[in-house]
Amino acid sequence: MNRNEPPSLARQPKANRPVRLSPPRQAPRSAGQSIEWERRLRSATETERLGLSIGQALRGGEVIALFGELGTGKTTLVRGLAVGIGAAPRSVSSPTFVLIQEYRGRLPLAHADLYRLDSATDLHHLGLSDYLDERHVVAIEWAEKAGADLPADRLEVHLSHRSKTIRAAVLKATGPSSHRLLTRLMQQEALRKDAAGPNGKEQRRP
Ligand SMILES: Nc1ncnc2c1ncn2[C@@H]1O[C@H](COP(=O)(O)OP(=O)(O)OP(=O)(O)O)[C@@H](O)[C@H]1O
Ligand SMILES: [Mg+2]
Repeated sequence: MNRNEPPSLARQPKANRPVRLSPPRQAPRSAGQSIEWERRLRSATETERLGLSIGQALRGGEVIALFGELGTGKTTLVRGLAVGIGAAPRSVSSPTFVLIQEYRGRLPLAHADLYRLDSATDLHHLGLSDYLDERHVVAIEWAEKAGADLPADRLEVHLSHRSKTIRAAVLKATGPSSHRLLTRLMQQEALRKDAAGPNGKEQRRP
């Protein structure tokens, strides 16, 4: 959680504060193109599992924009994403000094952490725009730092602390590609729930 940052790199007050979270909702909300889904994550494993599910629903070309204060589980979720696309997860950490790291699975994943980004540096300078194509998946921690450079169509994941171990994740689709991704993810999760049955255990046919 504590990155032991030198004072010169102390966090700037955010101009663009993360969206205030509403109380937990069970069902996804949909308003035209924008859909929103809230999940409660009771452990780091659950956060990683959500990342894995998102990873399995990816088709290439999507942008995952991660928002949330220090230690809310952004990197943990990206680790799950890497597992979901079949990349080696062990190597996934916050790319604190190298701002962008690449992982290869069935899709190439570019993982950026903008925490230390100087507000004067734009995404083009950073090289992140090189990954914005229909093949790569781009996951961006501290996405608010990208400001207006953030691609318009993105799956936003807003993470927040509920207690020491419980986090909340609000997922929002902001365009057609992220809308399709979130729809696939919700369908996947519904199927998984059905298969697990009322006790959360795999159902067996007699
Ligand atoms: N429900 C939870 N979800 C995710 N992480 C959790 C949870 N409960 C505890 N943790 C722990 O919180 C710690 C911080 O997680 P992580 O590094 O993913 O956060 P982060 O948002 O990427 O932090 P940073 O802002 O420094 O990049 C990890 O040690 C993780 O195991
Ligand atoms: Mg991190």
